Amino acid sequence: MAEVDPQEFFALFAAERRADPYPHYRKWRERLPVAAPAERMFVVSGLAEATQVLRDPAFGHPEPEYLDPADRLPDQPVDESGRVVRAFLSLNPPDHTRLRRLVAKAFTPRMVERLAPRIEQIAADLIDRAPPEFDVMTALAKPLPVEVIAELLGVPLDDRERFAEWSHAMARALDPPFLQSPETVEPAVRARQSFVAYFRELAGHRRREPGDDLLSALVAVSDAGDVLSEGELLVTLTLLLIAGHETTTNLIGNGVLALLHHPGGLRPAAEAPDRVVEETLRYDSPVQLTARTALRDTTLGTSAVPSGSQVIVLLGAANRDPATGADPESFDPSREPGRHLAFGQGIHFCLGAPLARLEGRIAFRELARRRPELRLAGTPQWNPTTTLRGLSSLPVA
Ligand code: HEM
Repeated sequence: MAEVDPQEFFALFAAERRADPYPHYRKWRERLPVAAPAERMFVVSGLAEATQVLRDPAFGHPEPEYLDPADRLPDQPVDESGRVVRAFLSLNPPDHTRLRRLVAKAFTPRMVERLAPRIEQIAADLIDRAPPEFDVMTALAKPLPVEVIAELLGVPLDDRERFAEWSHAMARALDPPFLQSPETVEPAVRARQSFVAYFRELAGHRRREPGDDLLSALVAVSDAGDVLSEGELLVTLTLLLIAGHETTTNLIGNGVLALLHHPGGLRPAAEAPDRVVEETLRYDSPVQLTARTALRDTTLGTSAVPSGSQVIVLLGAANRDPATGADPESFDPSREPGRHLAFGQGIHFCLGAPLARLEGRIAFRELARRRPELRLAGTPQWNPTTTLRGLSSLPVA
């Protein structure tokens, strides 16, 4: 394992590399599949090493912190011992196991399949409404996942715009601390508070008058006498919304861009949209990185990792490891889907993967059917975020 200059690591995420960080990832991964750019900080970019971190119980999340009442934000959920209530994405077993099981009981594959005709209708309407020249992001990639997640949760139509705003503010703050600034953190904290307050009220309504939606199902779910506490319900709703929104937007945007750069244009999206989804996830992953903490002294390959070390997992780099398949640097939507880590791996594997795949498939297919001659009509612009990789605009005609 090699020690490297931290500046060399930070440079991987520099603004001028945003349009195409992959040649830099490749050089880094070939030289440093496991690197230590700072004391108690490790970075993994090889597929095997990244998979190990995600699957190994020696790596997890720090325990939720105790918050003094004076330091609590208004509406911040805390448990009876004063610890911050966290969503299960950042909890370890047994809390993770318990909460994921409860949520999975309400958020079932059947519930997702049932949504297919509605997703088709929303996608078709959005595409048909777009003028001859349009921006794929504002016309389709952004509104489709918000509409779908709002419909799934049973959020009233009128509130959906506020939702998109809060969710965007929170998504910007998902970058690791070394890539963040107060300009992104403060709006995210405010947005989180707004979400929690909003869901508290909506959950109250659904408790009194249950509907045929995921929110009502989560309010009612129980497993061997176990239920979601009020705080757990609120942070779970916020997680589902954030996890299920901007990520899917980026799957659609990154996929359409890759198709338009590809000689076959949108044709593969009409013929085999599921392959386009899988290849986009691997080739230009909407979630580029995640992090873990070493929960005890352990090893990573041949390196000793002390307890408490931070480990950054570069999913976007691991997904172009030659171990994912032949010619990993090229976008080939006809390839047999291989291994990738775009939805993570192990106990935290994306709970929304079936929904994300369904939305991606429908968006690509409907676009190819309704606008088969689409081509790029300007320079695509990238969002300034690193964890979530996606476009702010994708002009087409
Ligand atoms: C977890 C990616 C869509 C809900 C994850 C993780 C990744 C991921 C990488 C694991 C993070 C880690 O291990 O640290 C994606 C991508 C998506 C997508 C690329 C779209 C293309 C969705 C959707 C939903 C969702 C649509 C739900 C509506 C979740 C949840 C978790 C999760 C609840 C936490 C699972 C756990 O901790 O057990 N996702 N996701 N995701 N995702 Fe997704």
